[in-house]
Amino acid sequence: MSTTTTVGVVGTPRDRVDGRLKVMGAATYPIDVTIPGLAHAVLVQSAVTSGRVRHIAVDAAERAPGVLAIITHVNAPALAHGAVTLLGPSPLPPLQSDAILHYGQHVAVVVAETREQAQSAAALIEITYERDTPVLAFNDPRTSPVFHPWTPDHDRGDVPRALAAADVQVKTTYTTAENTNNPIGLFATVAVWDGDALTVYDTTQYPHAVRDLLAAAFGIDPAGVRVLVPFVGGAFGAGLRVWPHTTLAALAARVTKRPVKVVLTRAQMFTSVGHRPNTIQQVSIGASRGGQLTAIEHVSTSSIGMVDELINLVTHGTIGAYACPNVSTRATQIRQSIPIPGWMRAPGEAEGSFALESAIDELSYALGIDPIELRVKNHAHVHPDSGLPWSSNALLDCYRQGAERFGWSARNPQPRSMRNGGQLVGYGMARAALFAYQPPCKAIASIRRDGTAFVRSGATDIGTGTYTIMTMLAADCLGVPIEHVRFGLGDSAMPEAPQEGGSGLTGALGNAVQAACIHLVGAFVNRVSDDAQSPLQGCRLESITVRDGGIQITDEPARFETYADILTRHGLDELTIEGESATPGETSSATMIVQAGRFIPYTAPSTGTRAHAGGYAAHFVEVHVDPDLGTIRVARVVSAVDGGRILNPKTVRSQILGGIAMGIGMALLEETSSDRTGRLVTTSLAEYVVPVNADVRDVDMLFVGQADSMTPLGTKGVGELAITGMAAAIANAVYHATGTRVRSLPISIEKLLRHETSSPHTSSPVAAIARTIGSASP
Ligand code: MOS
Repeated sequence: MSTTTTVGVVGTPRDRVDGRLKVMGAATYPIDVTIPGLAHAVLVQSAVTSGRVRHIAVDAAERAPGVLAIITHVNAPALAHGAVTLLGPSPLPPLQSDAILHYGQHVAVVVAETREQAQSAAALIEITYERDTPVLAFNDPRTSPVFHPWTPDHDRGDVPRALAAADVQVKTTYTTAENTNNPIGLFATVAVWDGDALTVYDTTQYPHAVRDLLAAAFGIDPAGVRVLVPFVGGAFGAGLRVWPHTTLAALAARVTKRPVKVVLTRAQMFTSVGHRPNTIQQVSIGASRGGQLTAIEHVSTSSIGMVDELINLVTHGTIGAYACPNVSTRATQIRQSIPIPGWMRAPGEAEGSFALESAIDELSYALGIDPIELRVKNHAHVHPDSGLPWSSNALLDCYRQGAERFGWSARNPQPRSMRNGGQLVGYGMARAALFAYQPPCKAIASIRRDGTAFVRSGATDIGTGTYTIMTMLAADCLGVPIEHVRFGLGDSAMPEAPQEGGSGLTGALGNAVQAACIHLVGAFVNRVSDDAQSPLQGCRLESITVRDGGIQITDEPARFETYADILTRHGLDELTIEGESATPGETSSATMIVQAGRFIPYTAPSTGTRAHAGGYAAHFVEVHVDPDLGTIRVARVVSAVDGGRILNPKTVRSQILGGIAMGIGMALLEETSSDRTGRLVTTSLAEYVVPVNADVRDVDMLFVGQADSMTPLGTKGVGELAITGMAAAIANAVYHATGTRVRSLPISIEKLLRHETSSPHTSSPVAAIARTIGSASP
């Protein structure tokens, strides 16, 4: 028997269980999938931004060597629009008309024996267009706001009255640029038909959504569609929606009766899998002379495609951010001739927190109050709408302990007062928070006669460590050595799981895995409780401890039997049981938690007594700015994080570090740009600049808080927490260093040197947003 301690791996820093596979090149990403008889499809994309395909000449391409099929709107079969998922509707199916709604829209698919042949044939296709003038500005008279149920307005108290009566007002406008996810793994789809059954290997964060969309598109039974993605290759939100190229791969395979592979090019990744839309945000804050917030108004306008719906929670985080009696938020989307937006890490929240936390910083200077003190003074001790206490909230500890670790007390509050040699030094900070989110999830757990456990669910691991933490959790819940536990995911034939997104999967899947494992131990207990041959006869779940691949009576260590022995005696190959996550704040009669191998009843807080809190953090940033060149270096970051119960400190650290790195990119570097005709000009990592190691220097983090009471598992999402507030912390540090307030992301050298004013109202929001989307100034 293994001597490994089998309880207590959760909470310890563990390497990734899939790390070795990945570094050995043995992890199979969708782009790596190859199948006998595989044909290759290449996508042809619109060169214009708006209009119609007048004519598409495919004759020469059809005669090119190796070509199997060319599919355009002229010969494509009708495809139905997929069902609405947890995340709203999917983009419309491709090739259903001659209309061009954005640059980079797929207008033809070329299928050939090899990718090179397909590419070469694609170059022979000649398309003539009828061009319209694209809509590229928020104030274009041909466009209008979108009304849909995804971003409701919010009002608390009487904001106009409170603002008018405030001792001090800050009214400012912020803009954020379009950003594009750049996972290293190019998105790929391999589609294989067998009659009306379809198998798809697809880069996705949400296999069940891909299954449902393809079933709807082709009018087939979802049970006949299998989506496989054991390894994703990064996604950051780009894989949350089901994009047209996935449907086109399946369509090409259906037309050619061959397995077909589609791989997006890096340039196509900029137009085919979504992006973070740009925003313009007005924030008005009223406060008393002593620093008590009396009113916050947050109004956001962001872009959306010409035909689409997209949840974009730009102002959502403002509602519960501070103990402010009067709060009003509005989030409007304006249709533009842009590639269909999607979600990118902390969608909306990253942009909204930049505006709110910059404005709070501006208020701190207007009042002459330290930015931390101002935030502490206005801390929401209870949920400001409902008045309910939070299920957990260690934000005050984040402020206190983060400030101490960072050395905030060494800060001279005067802007442009700190130097290091020739460099201006700035200290800035910001509050970060992310809503609690836990969609429903199922998992299934088995123990086999060889003593191994196999636990699985149709979820994904986009690089966050899901395989690892779920393996650890299952090992602890079952008392099986971690080396004998395998976790499976990335297969829609496994139990229904939500997307890995919204920072909600650890909670959703973890609670499902814990429930499945507890039920499985319960099934073993049922087997032996009236088994006269078992030393465990008469046991109950409450009286046992799991360890070393089996069960013991807690108070009588000699009464122990392995799962393998139980299965053997009962003539069973395995026991398998499904489990489901409990809705946060709800307790079913069977809900338990596992502590040190023991099963303890769990009771959720009684209904309506707690506000479910998500993760919190406080970011502290030191920047060095060259006063002549305008170069900004993030020299140091300290983030203090309340992530609830931490399952694996090592993978959590990676999530926070990754969020900080993306926050540095958002603040200083990343900008998706188009020319005045709406054609993208940033189509590679040479033009679209992301942070590299040299940009991510001294990063330190600490964890505070405790398990959240709202779910049996006690975790909070951390995947998107760290990018939230990060851009504001950097912008606030830049202001402290230079005395220049840049209210437009990214804070490029040009913007800093242009000395965008630090006083409100003087920058034209329309001009600023026009710059960020690259259109002519109005
Ligand atoms: Mo995240 S944008 O919910 O993958």
